[in-house]
Amino acid sequence: MLNWDDPLAITAHPTTPRPGQGLVDNATLMQTAGAAPSVNPNPISWTHADEQILLKTPTPHHGATGLESLTLGASRVRVDDKRIINCRADLNQLVPFKYDWAWQKYLDACANHWMPQEISMNADLALWKDPHGLTDDERIIIKRNLGFFSTADSLVANNLVLAVYRHITNPECRQYLLRQAFEEALHTHAYQYIVESLGLDQGEIFNMYREVPAVARKAEWALPFTQYLADPHFQTGTIENDQRLLRELVAFYVIFEGIFFYVGFVQILSMGRRNKMTGTAEQFQYILRDESMHMNFGIDVINQIKIENPQLWTAEFQQQLISMIREAVELEAQYAYDTMPRGVLGLNAQMFEEYLHFIANRRCAQIGLAEQYSGATNPFPWMSEVLDLKKEKNFFESRVTEYQTGGALRWD
Ligand SMILES: [Fe+2]
Ligand SMILES: [Fe+2]
Repeated sequence: MLNWDDPLAITAHPTTPRPGQGLVDNATLMQTAGAAPSVNPNPISWTHADEQILLKTPTPHHGATGLESLTLGASRVRVDDKRIINCRADLNQLVPFKYDWAWQKYLDACANHWMPQEISMNADLALWKDPHGLTDDERIIIKRNLGFFSTADSLVANNLVLAVYRHITNPECRQYLLRQAFEEALHTHAYQYIVESLGLDQGEIFNMYREVPAVARKAEWALPFTQYLADPHFQTGTIENDQRLLRELVAFYVIFEGIFFYVGFVQILSMGRRNKMTGTAEQFQYILRDESMHMNFGIDVINQIKIENPQLWTAEFQQQLISMIREAVELEAQYAYDTMPRGVLGLNAQMFEEYLHFIANRRCAQIGLAEQYSGATNPFPWMSEVLDLKKEKNFFESRVTEYQTGGALRWD
């Protein structure tokens, strides 16, 4: 046993990495480069008899996880083997790509990287402290939205990591999910940063989803969907369970991120358009850009699962999804009434109801469901410019940080 505190002992073992370093020096690495990997699938008790049993076990219907034992000499991954759910092809091999849209979204998301601290909150703090800076109604809007979003993004992140990720059996989609999970962490960071910058009571904001019904209802609505999938015994591979997964993807990507976020986005961005709380509004603009891509990714995944598993998309199942969307529109409309009972910033709750009908129609069409609110129009046409993400690459002109060139790496 090497004593890590003894410099002589370490000198005698120059190629042994120290705890915490975790790196093998280049010479040692080159000695083993190109050698066949030595893999013991179960170092504790793996016998030839076990191997025979494994080989005779029929392939399960559910997908791989990426943590299966390695089979040496297994054939290479072919594009045709890849599927979004219930796929048994090796999940640790990113390429060959099958779903270019997933990889492209990963690249686009990385190109859009941002950090909350890049945005100055000085003007917001001055306005917040000024007793005449904002009306009581405007303060309620800001606090309620921080209350909703500060926990909503953690809920989405937990859903991704603990429920969705395991069941999406495609490496390029997982690559995007990992990026999305980090972005959700950044969003929670942004809300924490706003709360801290304005000197708000963090307990009041972060516990709001347990105290204020309008905020609580949306989280309560979503939780049962993720709880099902997070159950370690839940596996896809049957029609019933594959529909559960699909329903959950609709609940989170189309409804939670695609409907429940939008009253808050319009409210905060409207404030920014009137030159109030511009730092907060800018944070929300970045977040909206990310969220819009999350939703579009989710819609692509849903549609691809439909193509690969048409048996799931029954008339009855579609009806269930439509009921969920209609229920969600009512909940979000109620949130609009609760957050602005008297109308603020030239906005009122009826306009939000119309807007929700408009975006719900859009979401339905995007996943191939019948539109539910005929003739609904968009009372906030300025939002569609942000939503459609046509300017994805250069949406923010005030960016000062270039991530592509920042921080050179040192290898010595
Ligand atoms: Fe988010
Ligand atoms: Fe998101």
